[in-house]
Amino acid sequence: MPTVTVATRPPKSATATDRPTTTSQLNKLPAAIKRAAKLQGFEAKPGQTLFLPANGSGPAEVLVGLGKPAEVDADRIRQAAAAYAKAVAGHQQVICTLGAGVGSVEPADAAVAAIEGIRLASYRYTTLKETTAAKRQIALKKVTLVSAGRGVKGAVVAANAVVDAVNLARDLTNEPGGSLTPEAFVAKTRKAAAGTGVRVSVWDEERIRAEKLGGLLAVNQGSENPPRFLTIAYTPKGRTPKAKVALVGKGITFDSGGLSLKTAAGMMTMKIDMAGAAAVMATMTALSAAAVPVAVTGYIPLTDNMTGGNAQRPGDVFVARNGMSVEVLNTDAEGRLVLADALSLAAEAEPDAIIDIATLTGSASAALGTQIAALMASDDKLAARVEAASARTGEKVWRLPLPEEYRGQLDSNVADLRNIGNGPYGGALIAGLFLKEFTDGRPWAHIDLGLSAMADADRGLTPKGGTGFGVRVLIDTLANW
Ligand code: BES
Ligand code: MN
Ligand code: ZN
Repeated sequence: MPTVTVATRPPKSATATDRPTTTSQLNKLPAAIKRAAKLQGFEAKPGQTLFLPANGSGPAEVLVGLGKPAEVDADRIRQAAAAYAKAVAGHQQVICTLGAGVGSVEPADAAVAAIEGIRLASYRYTTLKETTAAKRQIALKKVTLVSAGRGVKGAVVAANAVVDAVNLARDLTNEPGGSLTPEAFVAKTRKAAAGTGVRVSVWDEERIRAEKLGGLLAVNQGSENPPRFLTIAYTPKGRTPKAKVALVGKGITFDSGGLSLKTAAGMMTMKIDMAGAAAVMATMTALSAAAVPVAVTGYIPLTDNMTGGNAQRPGDVFVARNGMSVEVLNTDAEGRLVLADALSLAAEAEPDAIIDIATLTGSASAALGTQIAALMASDDKLAARVEAASARTGEKVWRLPLPEEYRGQLDSNVADLRNIGNGPYGGALIAGLFLKEFTDGRPWAHIDLGLSAMADADRGLTPKGGTGFGVRVLIDTLANW
């Protein structure tokens, strides 16, 4: 992953530079470049690039298409920067002038978008690769952002912290379930949190039992790895917090389905089932750098969902933290069980808002595909905050309803609640309705990531694999409170 620093003029050592090009700038290019562009079919379409090798004087140039000038916004710059990063992947030191502001985009906003585009697109998970060839694959080491705009330096520090957080969440999501146990997740949290001004506290199994986290214990019954419950707290420095917000992340370090076992194919991606937890943990590490004005506490239940001899059986009943009894008719609907306890704990602290994030259902992706996450909320104002952050960051969420008329599907014959509905339809909504029971009527928003946590191909800012989806939406929501 390249580092990005700011300078007011381009460094001599760089071997490539971008030439941001809108459709209206096409005609004003120097004659030789204009000819090359025409010959190679470069029309300044958004995300289109054309690499022009160095010809003795100065670095290589990359024409970076931005489309029509009036259409240029932060997201356009972000995508263009990602395309630029790909075009210069063979270079070590490059220049980026996109961040100086284009069209009506302020230099500081353009700088943030350029950094996000370049650094997020350059991410690779190489930790487990045996040879250094894979590590060399992306050679880009140093990007110098040329911009003299006001507030750019500060914006760059924050943007780098946000990108670090997204890439941390990606690392965690990409790590195999066999090595990222609850204890390992905790150890990584302590390491990542050091120096970021947040307070980490960890409950072991004994404490989890004493605190009556029945859902977390029920899911953990089939596992050899003890559960953990992780809390991470942030308070803004030198000001009274504008509000108190709770984040809750699903931390299933591997989901086999339990005795309601998944298919082999269904299990193949299930190391990602802690992507919500990763998003919350990584978000917490960036709050101070992003100067977030609200107090935030992250609640993260951690266990894998396995099939050991003591695994919960379909039909078993447990009592959750809030005293409700839950009949578990499908052990593969486990995320809602661990989230139930975490939401109860969050609500007990009486926050102004609770936001949870989870790879909760395949149904969310059946509805919205793999690049848009589902949003559900008990509070329109909170939903609007998340939707605004989504629009600003380009991490797409779409609001789904929490229909009261489906609530009856969660009525159990033997307990207060059952953990699945009564048919194959509307699974994301049923899961949302289940979670709502544990929010104690507080303003609450729920982000069901579904498969948006994992990309099946390289796309724009998101290389194949763990996406870190949600980190930017969460940080942006909190930063703009
Ligand atoms: N972790 C899965 C949901 C999931 C599946 C996320 C695929 C991303 C990709 C969750 O624990 C689960 O298994 N949900 C079930 C619920 C069902 C049993 C009611 C599902 O969605 O099928
Ligand atoms: Mn499951
Ligand atoms: Zn799961």
